Amino acid sequence: MILISTPSTKIILLLLASVGQAIWNPILPGFNPDPAIVRHDRDYFIACSSFEYYPGIPIYHSNDLGTWTLYSHAATRPEQLQLYGVPTTAGAWAPSLAYFEGKYWLSAMTRWTYDPVAKVWPRVWFISSTDMVHWSDPTWAEPWGIDPELFNDPVTGKTYLNLMAPNNNIDKIWGIYGCELSLQSGKCIGPYVSTWNGTLPGTTGRPEGPKTTYKDGYYYMIIAEGGTDEQHRVTVSRSKHPLGPYQAGPHNPLLFNGQWGFSNLTVQSTGHATLIETADGEWYASYLARRNVNGSSPLGRETFLAKVEWVDGWPSINHDGEPVLLSDQVPPVLEGQRQVPEPWVDDFSRPTLRPEWYQLRTPYTKNYEILNDGLFLHPNVFNLDDRDVPAALLKKQTSLNMSFSAELLGFKGELGPRNKVGISAYLSEFQHQDIGLGGCINATGMCLYAETRMNNTVDHWQTPLNSTEDIESGLTLHIRATPLAYQLGYTLQGEEKPTYVKEVSSKWQAFAPSDWLVFTGNMFALFATGEGQPWPYTAPTVGFARVKETYFEEDIADYDRW
Ligand SMILES: *[C@@H]1O[C@H](CO)[C@@H](O)[C@H](O)[C@H]1NC(C)=O
Ligand SMILES: *[C@@H]1O[C@H](CO)[C@@H](O)[C@H](O)[C@H]1NC(C)=O
Ligand SMILES: *[C@@H]1O[C@H](CO)[C@@H](O)[C@H](O)[C@H]1NC(C)=O
Ligand SMILES: *[C@@H]1O[C@H](CO)[C@@H](O)[C@H](O)[C@H]1NC(C)=O
Ligand SMILES: *[C@@H]1O[C@H](CO)[C@@H](O)[C@H](O)[C@H]1NC(C)=O
Ligand SMILES: *[C@@H]1O[C@H](CO)[C@@H](O)[C@H](O)[C@H]1NC(C)=O
Ligand SMILES: *[C@@H]1O[C@H](CO)[C@@H](O)[C@H](O)[C@H]1NC(C)=O
Repeated sequence: MILISTPSTKIILLLLASVGQAIWNPILPGFNPDPAIVRHDRDYFIACSSFEYYPGIPIYHSNDLGTWTLYSHAATRPEQLQLYGVPTTAGAWAPSLAYFEGKYWLSAMTRWTYDPVAKVWPRVWFISSTDMVHWSDPTWAEPWGIDPELFNDPVTGKTYLNLMAPNNNIDKIWGIYGCELSLQSGKCIGPYVSTWNGTLPGTTGRPEGPKTTYKDGYYYMIIAEGGTDEQHRVTVSRSKHPLGPYQAGPHNPLLFNGQWGFSNLTVQSTGHATLIETADGEWYASYLARRNVNGSSPLGRETFLAKVEWVDGWPSINHDGEPVLLSDQVPPVLEGQRQVPEPWVDDFSRPTLRPEWYQLRTPYTKNYEILNDGLFLHPNVFNLDDRDVPAALLKKQTSLNMSFSAELLGFKGELGPRNKVGISAYLSEFQHQDIGLGGCINATGMCLYAETRMNNTVDHWQTPLNSTEDIESGLTLHIRATPLAYQLGYTLQGEEKPTYVKEVSSKWQAFAPSDWLVFTGNMFALFATGEGQPWPYTAPTVGFARVKETYFEEDIADYDRW
């Protein structure tokens, strides 16, 4: 938008300012990678990857591109998402959204493992919905690969599947491939062709995440290149035909914060963009980026928004690929500071679980119950180290400066040394930082304990509860998250200030052992476990009365200097 200071445009701008509001990045803070945006009438929706979390594929809604609420999840049934034994970072990847034939369409893929021994390849699927809430069972697509997109050609009405795929199963040179697709069968009904290999030389570019837009006689294909880490970037090509040949744009990459150094700007790994036209003919792009804190990003890959202009028939993102700075608003620049969100409280007074809570992998059994305004966990033999479904509910960490506090339900009786209930700063089965209550180790009675994990080094701390009586209500566990560290603490009934007993550098919540990957971000977990044994039938019932998140200002600089 151009600022012209005639009285009438001033009034219009004031009106806009009162309707819309200043847009700050990230628009979806926390682990919300691979955003795919779609508009239908005045509604915007963004779908993101969910990896090993269930339900899968969160969908956010907005009317103004600035205020987003979690609207639904696309994969809510085991028929849609089979996450059995999947390791961290496998699972549901990289959705695309489209609206055609009077319905919403979502395509994505499930990656069950990336273990080369298993030889299990990602499988592509798509589902449809008339309301973005109730989704069909999947149709499995014929090609295999990642980041599938259903593109409905507005000129011919034909639907194409575009994806990142190998040239064949022997040399596995990845590129963008596509075919005309049958929505009924999921099979190609025309030639399956290589459409674009991106702009990077050789076979290391990893062109991925194709997103197609038709405008003024051209099909524009936006992709991500360079792998998902430091080299991640946005590039564009265009063609007169949906299946190519595609010609690269003259100003690639359209967005690449890494070009100013991998440890310079706070915002890194800018890529995986989708273009969107507003009802008023303005253009934007949703994309993913990390906020680096001294070189690591504990919140993982978050959803960002940029303004797009069209110049000589090509899209230009963020004023011609200028660096993305956290201090810059997304245009139009309006009055207003970045807001600190109100606290988030869940006292489990609703009959069903709020949608912000996830489980790890597809549950086999019911692992929780909401009763009498409390969350009761049904602990099983699995814990947060297992590649299974422990009795755990997890919520995304959405601020780099916040606290997560959970008050335990009181109970009668005593927990044995393998019976634990607690909270965790959770990244993966490898990296989670726990504080909780359990039977004391090598001593009688119950203890408060904390267990931290740094690259397979497990550090255990415990202190006796000093109460032989039943646990009354009021024991609250705390995680204080700051950009550089997580602190674990507790308050006993009547205490005001948490006693913090452990601190862990936040870099460990962005860490994977060698041969493993981090595509997710930190979550906060409520959990209970029998640690390898069934929860004793005589053991107390455990759970939580209340969870509260408090957010503080996030004063994160444009440059990653700490
Ligand atoms: C992309 O690379 C593959 C493998 O080298 C090649 O077969 C294909 O023709 C290339 N595609 C395009 C559109 O250039
Ligand atoms: C850091 O990024 C800025 C762009 O915002 C650039 O001007 C500057 O040269 C970069 N510094 C280094 C050390 O690369
Ligand atoms: C419990 O005792 C065993 C045997 O002495 C010891 O190896 C272990 O470290 C102890 N555990 C804790 C948490 O104190
Ligand atoms: C993690 O542990 C492995 C194996 O002991 C070691 O090679 C690696 O350097 C460690 N990484 C870090 C960041 O400590
Ligand atoms: C229990 O008592 C011991 C000894 O006085 C003390 O060190 C410990 O902090 C107490 N535990 C709690 C949870 O207050
Ligand atoms: C986090 O919040 C605290 C409390 O409001 C504040 O003192 C601190 O400066 C904040 N840190 C950052 C990095 O914004
Ligand atoms: C930032 O990371 C470096 C290298 O890992 C470390 O030496 C330094 O202490 C960290 N800075 C802060 C403020 O934590």
